[in-house]
Amino acid sequence: MANTAQTQSDQLKHAYWPDGSTIVRAEQVPWTEWALPGTWFKLLDYDRNRSYSVILLRIEPTAPATPHKHIGAANAYILEGGFSYEHGEVRAGDFMVEAGGVTHTPQIHSDGCVLLGFMYGVVAGFEEDGSLAGVVDVDWMIDQARANDAFAHLEDVVRT
Ligand SMILES: [Fe+2]
Repeated sequence: MANTAQTQSDQLKHAYWPDGSTIVRAEQVPWTEWALPGTWFKLLDYDRNRSYSVILLRIEPTAPATPHKHIGAANAYILEGGFSYEHGEVRAGDFMVEAGGVTHTPQIHSDGCVLLGFMYGVVAGFEEDGSLAGVVDVDWMIDQARANDAFAHLEDVVRT
């Protein structure tokens, strides 16, 4: 039987099993600034060939309400708080499928929001006048995370 101290220490380390599985101890990954002020993410997995990413996203209530377009679909499981789009609201415990091609503007609830997001394709953000503000893709998130020492858990994982 493993000694307790060793077991507790192992629980803090990311794990890479011989069968190819990756166990990310998400608590150990620092939050990295995302695309808008007051938004933070942790990159949990990615695949460039499919422009796919899995992220924890934390949005503070002060984050600006600006429109964005999903070039591909995005799925989100809301862990804390919530937000509203033009057609309704989503709250903790909800799972949302945001269809590819949709443009909408989130209004973050007063308690903010933390969600687990699965993104396919890029997300384009727009200024209030409709001009393109920027695009978030997998490479941008990797670069941001690396610069924040928040990518080491995926550095040696084989991904496209
Ligand atoms: Fe969205």
